[in-house]
Amino acid sequence: MERIAILNLKGGIGKTTTAVSLATILATEHRKNVLLIDCDMQGNASKALGQYSPDSRGTHSIMQGQEDPENCTVRATCLDPEAKGIIDVIPANMYLMQANAQVLQDTEAEQLHILDRALERLEAMERWYIAYDVAIFDCALGLDMTVLNALIASDLIVAPVPFGGYEIDGLQQLQEQVDDLKSIKPDLQLKALFTMKQNNKTNREFEEWLHNGSGYNAFDAAITRSVMVQKAALEGLPLPVFSKNGKATKDYRKVAEELVQDLEEIGARKHRK
Ligand SMILES: Nc1ncnc2c1ncn2[C@@H]1O[C@H](COP(=O)(O)OP(=O)(O)O)[C@@H](O)[C@H]1O
Ligand SMILES: [Mg+2]
Repeated sequence: MERIAILNLKGGIGKTTTAVSLATILATEHRKNVLLIDCDMQGNASKALGQYSPDSRGTHSIMQGQEDPENCTVRATCLDPEAKGIIDVIPANMYLMQANAQVLQDTEAEQLHILDRALERLEAMERWYIAYDVAIFDCALGLDMTVLNALIASDLIVAPVPFGGYEIDGLQQLQEQVDDLKSIKPDLQLKALFTMKQNNKTNREFEEWLHNGSGYNAFDAAITRSVMVQKAALEGLPLPVFSKNGKATKDYRKVAEELVQDLEEIGARKHRK
């Protein structure tokens, strides 16, 4: 199981849209069994997959050591019934705030490895449980205990970046964070994804800079700004289910293709170790 964190330090930049859209496309078009772990107490990814509940078990239960991950998953039922893959969601709700505070107070060395260990336990069970191909963490903004846990549990960080000067600051801070973790996570990679792209000169210049001038690793494909994204959220559906052939969905499809390649490489590298 390869692990991806959708993370940047800012809010409102397309993290949840990216997590849910990629999970959906990987499950419905690439036959992947996806585990989506909602790491944001707002629970937007859980909502988009029709699995939000204010008092259900979820990521907080794992963070607090109350439940094993397999007891916290719920199957998303909004996918095309023909889909060969699945999405199981570990939902989040406001209890995650308490969990973050509790883990922060509990100053054992293990406090940053709770999610990593939980996924290791799941992987060890896969022969008689479910063989997940990919785990996707939909992170909150900033770096709380759950997000730090997701970062440490991941092989790849996908960082959505919309157009604008300040967003690049967030990417810089995130890159520094990844570099700081080099001693414990030498293979952790960061890949930027240009989200909410508009068709004008400044956006095209920004995209060109992101790819060729910034020094960051970035997806070739970018995500177009589209009203369909908001409409899908209002309907409580993943974008690729709501707007199967819309422009933004097609963009996410291209990103998913790149991602599948990246995951194969990451998987092969982990296998060699
Ligand atoms: N490609 C896009 N086009 C238009 N609106 C978008 C796009 N991606 C995200 N949004 C909108 O921006 C807001 C924030 O997106 P979201 O994915 O929830 O970001 P985050 O998880 O980073 O807070 C939402 O209202 C969402 O509908
Ligand atoms: Mg979000």
